[in-house]
Amino acid sequence: MDRRNFIKTTGTLIASAAVAPGLAAHAAEDAASGRIVLPINRRWRYSPQSTPAAHQPDFDDSGFDRVTVPHTNIRLPWHSFDEKSYQFVSIYRRRFRLPASARGRRVFVDFEGVMTASTVFLNGTRLGEYKGGYTPFSFELTPHLDWAGENLLAVEVDSTERADIPPFGYQIDYLTFGGIYREVALRLVSPTFIENVFAQPKDVLSGNPSLDVQCFIEQSDASGGALTLEAALFDGDRPIARTAQPVSLTSGATAQTLHLAHLGPIELWSLKTSRLYRVEVRLLRGPELLDNQSRRIGFREAKFTPQGFSLNGEVVKLRGLDRHQTFPWVGQAMPGRVQRRDAWILRRELKCNIVRTSHYPQSRHFLDACDELGLLVLEEIPGWQHIGDQAWQDIAVDNVGRMIRRDWNHPSIILWGVRINESRDNHDFYTRTNALAHQLDPTRQTGGIRNFQGSELLEDVFTMNDFGFPLKPPNHPLYLNTEFVGHTFPTKTIDNVERLREHTLRHARIHNQLASDAQYAGGIGWCAFDYNTHADFGSGDRICYHGVSDIWRQPKPAAGFYRSQCDPGEEVVLEPAFHWAHGDESIGFTRALVCSNCDHLKFYIQDQLVAEADPDREEFAHLKYAPFSVDLGHALHPWGDLRIEGYIAGRQVIARTLSGRGVDSQFTAVPEDTRLLADGADTTRVVLRVTDEYGAVRPFASDAIRFELTGPATLIGDNPFALAGGAGAIWIRAGETPGNVQLTAHHPYLGPQTVEIEIAPAPPEQA
Ligand code: GAL
Repeated sequence: MDRRNFIKTTGTLIASAAVAPGLAAHAAEDAASGRIVLPINRRWRYSPQSTPAAHQPDFDDSGFDRVTVPHTNIRLPWHSFDEKSYQFVSIYRRRFRLPASARGRRVFVDFEGVMTASTVFLNGTRLGEYKGGYTPFSFELTPHLDWAGENLLAVEVDSTERADIPPFGYQIDYLTFGGIYREVALRLVSPTFIENVFAQPKDVLSGNPSLDVQCFIEQSDASGGALTLEAALFDGDRPIARTAQPVSLTSGATAQTLHLAHLGPIELWSLKTSRLYRVEVRLLRGPELLDNQSRRIGFREAKFTPQGFSLNGEVVKLRGLDRHQTFPWVGQAMPGRVQRRDAWILRRELKCNIVRTSHYPQSRHFLDACDELGLLVLEEIPGWQHIGDQAWQDIAVDNVGRMIRRDWNHPSIILWGVRINESRDNHDFYTRTNALAHQLDPTRQTGGIRNFQGSELLEDVFTMNDFGFPLKPPNHPLYLNTEFVGHTFPTKTIDNVERLREHTLRHARIHNQLASDAQYAGGIGWCAFDYNTHADFGSGDRICYHGVSDIWRQPKPAAGFYRSQCDPGEEVVLEPAFHWAHGDESIGFTRALVCSNCDHLKFYIQDQLVAEADPDREEFAHLKYAPFSVDLGHALHPWGDLRIEGYIAGRQVIARTLSGRGVDSQFTAVPEDTRLLADGADTTRVVLRVTDEYGAVRPFASDAIRFELTGPATLIGDNPFALAGGAGAIWIRAGETPGNVQLTAHHPYLGPQTVEIEIAPAPPEQA
């Protein structure tokens, strides 16, 4: 078959592809074959009050807000708010028209995530209610559509904590927020279409790998004719292998596996290479293309063994953090770019090799970034300690299926969490969740996060939240610690130096113990980022200060420990786990704790060498990069700047200086991106810091920063915004018009900082 032809006809037509406005509409209508996906994220009308009249198409919603999803049902303060403020029933309305090429197709609306229950109406007809805030769902629109005229989709969103829906029914230690907080699209498919694809690499380490491509087909027409399925593997645009076979449909739905062999040299997906390939599947009736799907995949062998976790035959000690996907002010309603950034922070800044998506399936953008960055993932179903009644459990079992069927092609995912986090044993319930996971995905092991060892193990891997120190010895050959430190030692960026140091040490001690015994597959600490929670948990402002970074993703000293555990070939790290202040500690500064992957440090005060240190191998005998601990108490006079030099094999490779002046010297406002798309949702973070003259954060700076923003964007954040612990962040969200945005951040006495961001044209939505 002609390769160019294959590619041309397989491209899923997404009408938002980068084409000029007039052309896109044309393209959508000309497409006679293959599926059409029409994103409908913009031009929603929203009201925080729903009424039955608002379900109807002729309702006048001109007074509603015009919003773009991801959307939060209410903007909130960043802390100290009552969770009841987002618990209400709201309504979203979206008008759309279909392209002429829609005729003869089945039309679905796909929601990626709506918190927490959604009742969906099309043109006044109630289609049903979906219960669940973290899992994708669809409704078929076909029988109720106006094919030529305007259609009205209405979604009534119940964001209350409904006891009939996981994770609710009792208290939970996090907030769920509300609204249509992930993307929405219309999917137009032929009556016989590919419902899902699961590509399973085989014999990955044999030198002769192959690929099984399981295709799930749904048929709702009886037009007859021989059907053919084709599958092809690509490396970028280069085809590697392809195969085709006739489809034998036995019922309305069928699963059929295509086998791709003789792939030639395949590069493995690993933490370093994160090598990805693409599988394309086409369904044909004679020469006519009925449907096509594309998935990104990776070839790797991942399994927990009694010797630890093995990736491609090599044991990798897992070192990671748990992540909540919540953000200040907007809860979970952050778009792809911001979701992806969290994965980047975890992998590149915190040098983790694993993340747990506590306690629910997270954004597909986050998981895509994990695939690209080489960050392993333990993904789990929604829930927290409480198990509800039979109907509730049925939803949780269904969540297992939705999570796996959404995410089974991600090479980064190595373990399915199929137990409600820290719940009690429940034989029947967890027999079901495990059976379903194994039946859907025979390639991955299951775990189920528990907080007591004496529990019944129905999963493959014993995944345990052990907050004690020392840790319990493994009670099962396959053993992974999934939470530690957390609430046992909440720590704020503004805490005193003794606490910041102890917080760092606690994470280091646990990882040291995990490194002492091969049977620990590793550990995932609680947690990456501080998060908003209920009053029953957290500090008095309803934040759990359990992160190694704060809620704005600013690192605390404990983050430096995670950072320092990477190979110096990747990055040389030297992170002081203290503020350089003479009298902040009781009696006065004594012990300097430094996290570094150097093998020797030298300390200078006012350019005088005052101490040298090797890694503390006494306390941290098992860590490859043990922290350094040195007593500087004797050397504080005369007081002055502290310079720390790091050496590897006798050669100086890094130096950090901390000012002894006690003066706020610089204010910086640094955007993570200088170009956003004018799609109404694209967002970037602007990191704010007050530092000394060497760039070290001044933890006592709590100044109010005032912002002026011009251009087609809005600010996510308070204005003015008071720094906490010398740092903070706000986000800038693009509007729907291209242009230039200028943000000026005024510090009361260190002057203004100006940030420029280009808002680049985004293709319009076609429905
Ligand atoms: C665990 C729980 C987490 C979080 C953590 C706080 O018990 O699984 O969700 O609440 O405690 O340390």
